[in-house]
Formats: sequence, structure tokens, C-alpha cells
Amino acid sequence: TEQLARMRALPKAEVHAHLEGCFEPHVLAQWAQEAGIALPRPQERLFEFAGLADFLHFLDWACGLANTRDRLAQLSYGYAKRLADSGAGYADVIFNPTHWDAWHGRLPAMVDALDAGFKAAEHDGLPPVGLCVSVLRTQTGDAAAELVDQLIAMRHPRVVALSVDGNEATAGRTGPRFADAFAKAGAAGLRRTVHAGESSGPEGVWDAIHLLGADRIDHGVRAIEDPALVALLVERQIPLGVCPTSNLVLRVYPSLQDHPVDRLRLAGVPVSLNTDDPVLLGASLEGEYAQCQAAYGWNDDVLRAVAQTSVDASFANPDIKRGLR
Ligand code: ADE
Ligand code: ZN
Repeated sequence: TEQLARMRALPKAEVHAHLEGCFEPHVLAQWAQEAGIALPRPQERLFEFAGLADFLHFLDWACGLANTRDRLAQLSYGYAKRLADSGAGYADVIFNPTHWDAWHGRLPAMVDALDAGFKAAEHDGLPPVGLCVSVLRTQTGDAAAELVDQLIAMRHPRVVALSVDGNEATAGRTGPRFADAFAKAGAAGLRRTVHAGESSGPEGVWDAIHLLGADRIDHGVRAIEDPALVALLVERQIPLGVCPTSNLVLRVYPSLQDHPVDRLRLAGVPVSLNTDDPVLLGASLEGEYAQCQAAYGWNDDVLRAVAQTSVDASFANPDIKRGLR
């Protein structure tokens, strides 16, 4: 439609998306068939999730099928293609090594395979992408420290940040456990982005800021429950990578009318719009803008400001950022 075309035309970046959320159903069905593995449910209902825990469990199954270099490169190329189709000029994309059974103990090979897809994409004129490598909430502090040591040893130019994702509800308070690893990553020049305020309340966001040194918060929406926290986000201009469709599909909020993204924006918190797990959750970047426009009556100035926030909040280098104004 004309409205989606307008959303595509906004100069913007995506700062919160997971490669684990980019599998096409027919591709998974084909890989499963080739491996002689049954689908967990019929293909038409493959992407029906009961909530975050069920969703994360599915990621392990899907990622387990991506067991060759070509499959990873196909996935990363496909993400860059979606980005271009949405009119974005850059993305920080998250992947979490724990989900990828076939690649355990082979992080450098995994990053190289994803990098090959992104390089091919750039060669074809698709947007550049930075990688955020993620710790899972349920891992130990030692496992997080080991991941950081590997990232520092690799110094791969594609890797821009350390991340933490997964389910905060089952892992309890994880900020203290990962504080050392995040401090070391920061000192080594990696940026830091932290899932919080999705499956945790405001306390997860406080920890992300005070214990993990977060440059950006993934989701962060439940910060709305604590006015002092909202004030801190505004004062420090810490950006949130908000994913409205994800929050509805995974049942964090029942509707956009209940979702706090516009209240956070009006309070002065830097908010961007993102897809989280675009294919699995049925989200597109231009669609997120269009739905917020419709739900909150955003005019062109607001849309442009949110899009600009996405660029400012990204870990893109200054040259790329300048090109996205
Ligand atoms: N991994 C992929 N998507 C996620 C989400 N929405 N929350 C936590 N971990 C995730
Ligand atoms: Zn996420």
C-alpha cells in the first residue's frame, strides 16, 4: 500500500533483530525432511507459539538444522535482503551461539559463515550489518566470560557488540552474574546491548544499566512501570530497541493501545522500532512503523524522529550514520 511505501522511504536502521528469527517455514520444512527429522507441528502452524519460553525452545530446534556454512550464509544474506526491502540502510543483528547445536565449540567458523553471507549481500548492494553476539540468560558467569574472551581473541570486524537475551523469568536476576564479562567486553571496545524489561520488570532494566553498562536496551518497555527509571533513561538518553509486534505475539501486552512505546517516546526516552524475530513472529520493519502510525496517530515528524533515533542508536560507524539522514 501507499502507507507502507511511505514507511519504507524513511531513512532508518534496525537495531533489534535475531538471526534465529529469520528462518522461512518452507526452508525449515525442507531441511527437516532432508535430515529425516519430523516437524514439531504441521507446517501451517509451525510458527504458533504459546509465549517466550515455547518460542525459545523452538529456536533450538530450528537452529539445529542450520548445520552447514552455506545455510548460515543463506540466512545472513536473506536478512540483509529483508532489510533492503524494508528501506533500512543498516542493522545490528543478534545471534546467540547456544541455540546452534552444530556449531558449538566452533564460534570463529560460525562468525565466518555468517560474515560470508553479509559480504555477499553488500557486494550485491544490500545494506551493511553488524553482529551482536549474545549470551543466554541461563548461562553461567564463566560461560559468559569465556564467550567474551573468544570474541576478544577473534577481533572479527563484523562483531560490534556483546548481547544478552533469553528468558529473564526463568533465569532470575542475571545482572550480577554477567557483570564481569560485560565490563571486560566494554573495556575491549565492544558495545553492549541487553534484553531487559520484556520477561523482567523494571529491575531488569536497572541492572542492565548499572551492572552491565548497557549502551542500549532490547525491549525495555516495562521500564514504564517505574517513573524514576524512565527519568534515568531520559537523562542518559539510553535508547530502547522496541518490538511492538513481538510483544503482542509473545503476550507481553494484549494490544498496541496497552503498549507503552508511545508513552515512553512522549516522556523523552529514545525509542526505535524493530522486528525482533521477523519471520517467526510475522513482523516487517515498515509494518512496525505503519502499525504505530495507525495506533498512535504519528505524523511525519514523529515517524522521521523515531527513524532517526534508530540510526543514532545503532552501532554503525559514523560514515554509515551520516549516509542515513
Ligand atoms: N531471543 C530471540 N528473541 C528473543 C526475545 N524476544 N526475548 C529474549 N530472547 C530472544
Ligand atoms: Zn530480542
